[in-house]
Amino acid sequence: MNNFEFQNPTKIIFGKGTIAKLSENLYKGEKIMMTYGGGSIKKNGVYDQVKKALEGYDVTEFGGIEPNPDFDTLMKAVKICRQEGIGFLLAVGGGSVIDGTKFIAAAVEYKGDEWEILTKKKVANECLPLASVLTMPATGSEMNPNAVISRRSTKEKFDFGSPKVYPVFSILDPEVVYSIPKRQKANGLADSFIHVIEQYLTDEINTPIQDRWAEGVMKTIIETAPKVLVDKPDYDSCANYMWSATCALNMFISPGVNQDWSTHMIGHELTAICGLDHGVTLSIVLPGTMQIMRKEKKTKLLMYAKNVFGITQGSEDEIIDKVIVATEDFFKSLGIKTRLSDYNAGEEVVNEIYNRFVKRGWNIGEHGIVTPEKVKAILTSRL
Ligand code: NZQ
Ligand code: ZN
Repeated sequence: MNNFEFQNPTKIIFGKGTIAKLSENLYKGEKIMMTYGGGSIKKNGVYDQVKKALEGYDVTEFGGIEPNPDFDTLMKAVKICRQEGIGFLLAVGGGSVIDGTKFIAAAVEYKGDEWEILTKKKVANECLPLASVLTMPATGSEMNPNAVISRRSTKEKFDFGSPKVYPVFSILDPEVVYSIPKRQKANGLADSFIHVIEQYLTDEINTPIQDRWAEGVMKTIIETAPKVLVDKPDYDSCANYMWSATCALNMFISPGVNQDWSTHMIGHELTAICGLDHGVTLSIVLPGTMQIMRKEKKTKLLMYAKNVFGITQGSEDEIIDKVIVATEDFFKSLGIKTRLSDYNAGEEVVNEIYNRFVKRGWNIGEHGIVTPEKVKAILTSRL
């Protein structure tokens, strides 16, 4: 096991009716900016619950943060925060709103070109504190220090992370899941499953606690998926989905293990260039990553096959073939199409991504084993 340091400061307030607990956790006297997305919260009652809980607080609203939050939109909020002396940010939404709010928190005091937060991974010495009311289980952003920001004007998408942008607290009321459209639930299930894979399917370095924890989260996501994809899911399935997605990327799996993240890095390019949903890009890329990196990931692929899908029959190569098919079938069972050709993306997209990785000098994945050539091979296998 590798050396590690671990600290997760985010308080989780989980359960039915917990949005009402906002006021217990916020200080009066602070100027608050409440951020949200395209308006789903106004249709499903979350906005009303938040406003009720914030009665008597000094709140400025900033709506319109897009899925894959855009740098230019977020900079408008940064400007307002600076003008009005905002002291606390409250994100009400999914990963995009929470990520966008983390960027705002990191940018308000930043001296210089704020895009450097993404390209040079710099944040200001002082970031605004933030909290969240989660409306969409998927990214784990509600309990992690990461954010992914898009810039449509240049067709780029980059991430940054800092312990300074962990939410102070996050409210997770599983009843928000009732209004999520099926397509977004599918994206959330695929995304959270692949978060676990990125921290698990690397090389075997004797980390049984992390591995069993990861397998437990993956098995829960597989078992829960069909129950939450129905039109009227039951409360417990929504609760299990929500907590699985948080646990998939709240830093509990990653201490002491080697991590991959190449599927995400490639997926971000597909979103930036083709506008595909995050969960869709990962479902396209992951079977290719498993196939092209099968030698390097052999031990963990066999462990994954046995412990997550119960596949033990056949030669090692046959088992690996079977588990790659089983993984892709899981994404298809969510209703996600898993080939680039399903989205009219062809060789020109593969070449564009290859050229970008060469230009950036990126060797990604655990130990940098996914070279630009491997990236090209992964994507070519998914045409
Ligand atoms: O914008 P609104 O109107 O709120 O609608 C959203 C949006 O259209 C809707 N939605 C959310 N909650 C809802 C709902 N609709 C009905 N009822 C509800 N309760 O769902 C749509 C998608 O929302 P979004 O926030 O974009 O989804 P998600 O949570 O999947 O976030 C995706 C973003 O997170 C990044 C992705 O790259 C992408 O930009 N990621 C962030 C990570 C992190 N911070 O650690 C890790 C991930 O790997 C990921 O990269
Ligand atoms: Zn993700």
